[in-house]
Amino acid sequence: MNEEKKRIVDNFGRVHNYLRISLTDRCNLRCFYCMPEDGIELMEKESIMSLEEIIELSRTFRDLGVDTIRLTGGEPLVRKNFGYLVEELAKLGVTLKITTNGIMLDKYLDLFQKIGLKKINLSLDTLDKAKSVFITKRDYFDRIWNNILKALELDMEVKLNIVLIKGVNDKEINDFIGLTKDRNLTVKFIEFMPFKGNKWDWSKGVGKQEILDTVSEKFPNVIALENPKHSTSTNFKVKGHVGSFAIVSTITNPFCDTCNRIRITADGKMKNCLFANSETDLLTPLRKGAEIQDIIVNAIKTKKYSRDGMDVKMDADHYENNRSMISIGG
Ligand code: 5AD
Ligand code: SF4
Repeated sequence: MNEEKKRIVDNFGRVHNYLRISLTDRCNLRCFYCMPEDGIELMEKESIMSLEEIIELSRTFRDLGVDTIRLTGGEPLVRKNFGYLVEELAKLGVTLKITTNGIMLDKYLDLFQKIGLKKINLSLDTLDKAKSVFITKRDYFDRIWNNILKALELDMEVKLNIVLIKGVNDKEINDFIGLTKDRNLTVKFIEFMPFKGNKWDWSKGVGKQEILDTVSEKFPNVIALENPKHSTSTNFKVKGHVGSFAIVSTITNPFCDTCNRIRITADGKMKNCLFANSETDLLTPLRKGAEIQDIIVNAIKTKKYSRDGMDVKMDADHYENNRSMISIGG
């Protein structure tokens, strides 16, 4: 009998074909909105997925219809033997993407070219070196900037992730837009989101409409671009600019209707949503040699429609029980 192919479909009929894997909860930066001030309790080495386990889980997800895998962290490039891992994942025939802080990117650009990894999201919250030290608590700005230029020279599809915070980098919106004039890159403004320990308060955030208003003060010719079906951002460009810009409006305009994303943390827990408090352990059954396809297919049925149930507003009792961003990976 021809058994119907198993897919990862939630109770709202959303098919999940996009997997984000956090390779590590470690990072060589300390961005204050991501990493709680007192740090996080790092995962024990034994509880972190081995490279072979990551590959095996990825294969399982691929067999369930996942066609895109994004590697995240912490900082994914600090994972030991990252090069081996990414080469093996490329053999699965999925589209690979990465989100990185860019510090070690130069080391891997040749490999990325070889295996066809072209889509790189890079966190860069400011164009001001001194401010970058304030935000990240480290001094890597020049290195990151050079790596961005290198990636662009190689025609990589680069998106800069900018978490906008009032009084920190909100005055730089149009400087970032300026970058898109002659460069083929996307600057992506992300509304500040709440996670455990990051002292979130929406009064510190900058919303989509405010961003658009600010841009149009300096650049009156903003064109709305078409948004790909599962896009989590709304996309625009300034007429005549080579590059484009995007806004991720998780707080003011959530975009959960077409969500196709699943996440796995570095310790092998499946998360149905960035804001999900409950997680499904995949690593323990995997290590016991259990069949995990059904665990995944069942786990997605508990996915809530929007923001893990925070449909209307962000609720501290809820998000303080989530992880910190550094151990989810965005
Ligand atoms: N709110 C919004 N975006 C965040 N990121 C990290 N923490 C937050 C937060 N609190 C973004 C960073 C990084 C991506 C993985 O997630 O820009 O690039
Ligand atoms: Fe590291 Fe990215 Fe978090 Fe910054 S946002 S601390 S670069 S994981």
